[in-house]
Amino acid sequence: MSIFQRSPTVNNLPITTVKPPLLFYTFAAIMATISERDRKVMWHPYTPMKLWPEAIGIVRGEGAYLIDESGNRYIDAISSWWVTIHGHSHPYIAQKVYEQMNTLEHCMFAGFTHEPAVTLAEKLLQILPGDMSKIFYSDNGSTAVEVALKMALQYWGNKGVNKRRIIAIENAYHGDTFGAMAVSGRSVFTNAFADLLFDVAFIPFPESGNEAQSLAALEGMLQQGDVAAFIAEPLIQGSAGMCMYTPDTLNRYFELCRQYDALIIVDEVMTGFGRTGPLFACDAITEKPDMICLSKGLTGGTMAMGVTATTQNIFDAFYDDDRNKMLYHGHSFTANATTCATALASMELLLKDECTESRKSIVEAHTIFAHSISGHPAIQDIRQTGTIIAIELKAEKTEYHSNIRDTIYRFFLDRNIILRPLGNIIYILPPYCITNDELTYIYNAIQEFLEEYSS
Ligand SMILES: Cc1ncc(COP(=O)(O)O)c(C=O)c1O
Repeated sequence: MSIFQRSPTVNNLPITTVKPPLLFYTFAAIMATISERDRKVMWHPYTPMKLWPEAIGIVRGEGAYLIDESGNRYIDAISSWWVTIHGHSHPYIAQKVYEQMNTLEHCMFAGFTHEPAVTLAEKLLQILPGDMSKIFYSDNGSTAVEVALKMALQYWGNKGVNKRRIIAIENAYHGDTFGAMAVSGRSVFTNAFADLLFDVAFIPFPESGNEAQSLAALEGMLQQGDVAAFIAEPLIQGSAGMCMYTPDTLNRYFELCRQYDALIIVDEVMTGFGRTGPLFACDAITEKPDMICLSKGLTGGTMAMGVTATTQNIFDAFYDDDRNKMLYHGHSFTANATTCATALASMELLLKDECTESRKSIVEAHTIFAHSISGHPAIQDIRQTGTIIAIELKAEKTEYHSNIRDTIYRFFLDRNIILRPLGNIIYILPPYCITNDELTYIYNAIQEFLEEYSS
């Protein structure tokens, strides 16, 4: 029998459907696990495919847990790459997605608009730090940064001012698209493309005791008068190894940028939506940015979305009769209606007292745990900002791909905890729905690891 079958017509157009040999696929699927089928067809992100051929087949998400096809329940202690904030498969978010899907799933966003996009923009502008007045949607953290960089460079171009230089902080991570890579630290992440990345000036990371040097480097660069923008991950550089610095330093960076008339882009892709305690890391300082990049927790970790929020001043530089001055940027899925509805549902949950209390309780639990292990001979440093705690182990090799990383990863996976260390740095960045008991279970496993590691 042919696998092609004539089906009825719609609007007089014949539709040809491909009928797969269903029995064959069903049988193959029953015989093989998701994990086995994956190996034949999949190329995973940030994965050395030859060395790490196996991916765990996840079939369900439930609060702080991911459940695999053998029924193992793993605590998602890093919120699935820092995105999940209310837990997996949250019923309220699922309900709102369903309702939106049945109303308007998507429409293009040039020349058209819709309720969820506008409401989400209005609500974001109410809670964002500073004087943000416009929201530009994109698809992820990298594109949110990409858009901010393009806006910053074109802002000066549109004003007829020759400022083209961008300043960033050493070891920063702002994403994987080319602009975002250019403003990220040069590392194994960017080596293959180093010659193609545009020049960016990097200032030293302001680690404790080194703040003055970092500030002086920024001022020295700003004095040259050609700086279009400064970009920073506020208070904590995530991928660099959860490296933390003070609100005071962040504030001084921003003051200097104001003094020398350079734009300020703040990348709150990881820190946004409560990770550092307050809703945004910039809530901890008095100076305010010109642009804020958001993603990850924006939809509660349910769907991909990026936002670049800007002040009226930035927007006005593009508001012109001359079409050359408009921003030439957009994505097919800009402001996807279902994604906007998801972000609105997540924001509703985030702003409830219950969520604030949960975050407080995580912060307190982390602090007590940090005290309990401080001074341990296996630990180089232990640091915390809000709901994020990082434990840096003493190690000879500290790079991202060091063997210690794989040992740590497997140790916790064997105890049903997902912790994906950054080299020799173990960190917990949990969904806010995590319970004290679940946190205690993770802390105990870390203590067990420390004992084994130091013996
Ligand atoms: C601070 C920061 N900016 C940007 C990104 C890139 O986001 P995405 O992976 O959604 O492109 C990340 C991702 O981890 C990040 O931590």
